[in-house]
Amino acid sequence: MVEKVRAHLVGSGRALPRRVVTNEELATLMDTSHAWIERRTGIQTRHYVSEDEDLSDLALTASEQAIDAAGWCAEEIDLIILATLSPEYQFPGSGMLLQHKLGLSKTPALDIRNQCTGFLYGLGTAKAFIESGMAKKVLVVGAEVHSRGLDFTDRGRSTTVIFGDGAGALCLEAKEGERGIQDVVLRAQGEFADRLCMKSPGSHTHPMYITHEILDAGEHFPYMDGRFVFKHACTRMPEAVMEVMTESAWTGADVDWFFFHQANIRINEYVAKTMGIDFQQCPFNADRYGNCSAASIPMLMDECIRDGRFKEGQNAVVCGFGAGFGWGALTLRY
Ligand code: ACO
Repeated sequence: MVEKVRAHLVGSGRALPRRVVTNEELATLMDTSHAWIERRTGIQTRHYVSEDEDLSDLALTASEQAIDAAGWCAEEIDLIILATLSPEYQFPGSGMLLQHKLGLSKTPALDIRNQCTGFLYGLGTAKAFIESGMAKKVLVVGAEVHSRGLDFTDRGRSTTVIFGDGAGALCLEAKEGERGIQDVVLRAQGEFADRLCMKSPGSHTHPMYITHEILDAGEHFPYMDGRFVFKHACTRMPEAVMEVMTESAWTGADVDWFFFHQANIRINEYVAKTMGIDFQQCPFNADRYGNCSAASIPMLMDECIRDGRFKEGQNAVVCGFGAGFGWGALTLRY
């Protein structure tokens, strides 16, 4: 009998900029405190890029680690998917820049602009390419450089303090057998696009992408209705987890790890509590890295693989929520 071909996880990597930024340092720039940030989010430090580091550099380091762990050479990759909300250019996408830095000349590369759910959308896309036979080896990367686009004044304090820079990468390969990505649930609700967004620069303004008025109003910085986003994340994440576990016919006893998006420890604790999940099964690294949007999930998975927590043969549920609103979940047997 021919076994189903699935997207197997065969390698992972992550990259963090050198510079570590503490809550105390942020408190010298805006009206905030270590106590507030720690208590309201669980975040203690995050990393910011230095002048000589760009998004595709972080993506390259994470990708090289993942490719090495997979035992691939870059030329074997059939598709590069890069998820980010902070690309280097308006166009072309940072996936193209990564492709070049990997020394490749024809490998297709696509960017996914789905913010904190971008990596899940990327994994869903990789699964579809692999299961349809269009690709055998797919590199999926999440990378963010938030720090160059944040408002470091009091006006931005509720948003700025949660974000960090970083990159994570996973290698997915077509293989027969029970392992690999099982089921994926992807959802979106564009109705709430205005609740978490960075509108400018963009083609919605005229006569130019960027105007003095936009700069004066700070519309080139992210805007977030924090409480509203928080409430929806706490509803949608359990919903997506339940939906995908039902699709996979998994019960709680089948799951070793829940890899949740890393925005705020209070969201993850709430989701775990409402679902009756032991928080020990929900690794958290935003205390050190902050919210790295599309990079958070692969960075967390790589950390757990490299420190020996996430072992081959174990089952994981991966779940994220972010701007759009977009959210989703998937089941994975490593
Ligand atoms: N330091 C000190 N005080 C602050 C700060 C700060 N950095 N930020 C806000 N405050 C104040 C507010 O002004 C407010 O004061 P008031 O009561 O006098 O009006 C008070 O603290 C409470 O403000 P809230 O916004 O209600 O704070 P909250 O507890 O909701 O925490 C936070 C804010 C951390 C942003 C939270 O709402 C959150 O985590 N939201 C969800 C984030 C998320 O999941 N984003 C999705 C992914 S991101 C993406 O997709 C791009």
